[in-house]
Amino acid sequence: MSIEIQTVMVIGAGQMGSGIAQVAAEAGLYVILHDQTDAIVQRGIDQITINLTRDVAKGRKTEAAKQAILAHIEPSTQLDDAHSVQLIIEAIVENMSVKCELFRRLEAIAPKEAIFATNTSSLPITEIAAVTTRPELVIGMHFMNPVPVMKLVEVIRGLATSDETTQTITDLARKMNKVPVEVNDFPGFVSNRILMPMINEAIYCVYEGIAKPEAIDEVMKLGMNHPMGPLSLADFIGLDTCLSIMEVLHEGLGDTKYRPCPLLRKYVKAGWLGKKTGRGFYKY
Ligand code: CAA
Ligand code: NAD
Repeated sequence: MSIEIQTVMVIGAGQMGSGIAQVAAEAGLYVILHDQTDAIVQRGIDQITINLTRDVAKGRKTEAAKQAILAHIEPSTQLDDAHSVQLIIEAIVENMSVKCELFRRLEAIAPKEAIFATNTSSLPITEIAAVTTRPELVIGMHFMNPVPVMKLVEVIRGLATSDETTQTITDLARKMNKVPVEVNDFPGFVSNRILMPMINEAIYCVYEGIAKPEAIDEVMKLGMNHPMGPLSLADFIGLDTCLSIMEVLHEGLGDTKYRPCPLLRKYVKAGWLGKKTGRGFYKY
């Protein structure tokens, strides 16, 4: 059994949340896009508008379709706007206590049958579910960056996630023109269990003076056919997010091979978070 989702609130209008809001609206859903300030929500909507305008320029959409998609997205800074949605997709900062606090607050606002999905990159779904009274309705719905382009949605079941919730989210991912892949709930799931240690190792190569960032990226692009080198990709993902994911792997799996590189910590402490702050391994 699957429930047809027509209304969704996306919480967090950053690079992931805005992309998720776009693909949800393109799939015909009514979307409430929520963040802490009007300016941040507007920045998310501006990014969606840029993406849709490019689609129109390239002849992939009509201007009318672009306007219809934008009309499906309502900005919000009030969490109370969750009172009538069928689904929440959370895409805020990768921090367990901040995410749990948000879901605790949503518990009192959202309809009792609403599904709580999280776009977390690595945090345990089971632990997030445990702060709610609806663990069977809590699930990981992990989109890849940039959301409008990447086909994968990693679907992560917590210990108590129901078959119906899993089927609903799997069907919804397909409706959003994505390919869902179901995995189990372990630190980093599959995507970041494999990707992030590679990125961390590339950062160690810089830290140990093995090569400059440009050379490391060139090796992986030309030698392994990766579309982006690991350090460009780290800057693109956000170095704060990369560090959080490494911390989750290190703490959750308890193996020193997952220790975050000290250079990664240093850059995050300096506020060099990559593309989003204008500086990371490269300057933007
Ligand atoms: N939003 C929407 N569309 C975008 C976009 C964005 N942010 N960035 C690029 N595109 C589109 C471009 O418009 C272009 O489409 P058209 O040519 O059809 O108009 C297409 O993507 C290709 O873009 P470019 O030609 O500018 O550049 P490119 O060929 O180098 O591709 C890329 C860009 C798709 C980002 C490519 O470099 C790539 O695949 N990089 C790797 C991305 C990746 O690994 N993502 C996963 C990150 S890990 C993750 O997400 C999980 C996590 O938890 C951290
Ligand atoms: P981002 O920094 O671009 O955006 C996060 C947004 O959340 C910001 O706009 C911030 O204002 C907002 N926010 C923070 N706390 C909030 C709260 N309590 N209520 C409402 N809004 C709040 O980050 P992002 O890259 O979009 O990542 C968001 C989530 O998606 C993280 O969990 C991250 O691990 C995950 N993710 C990231 C990527 C990636 O490549 N960046 C890929 C997949 C998943």
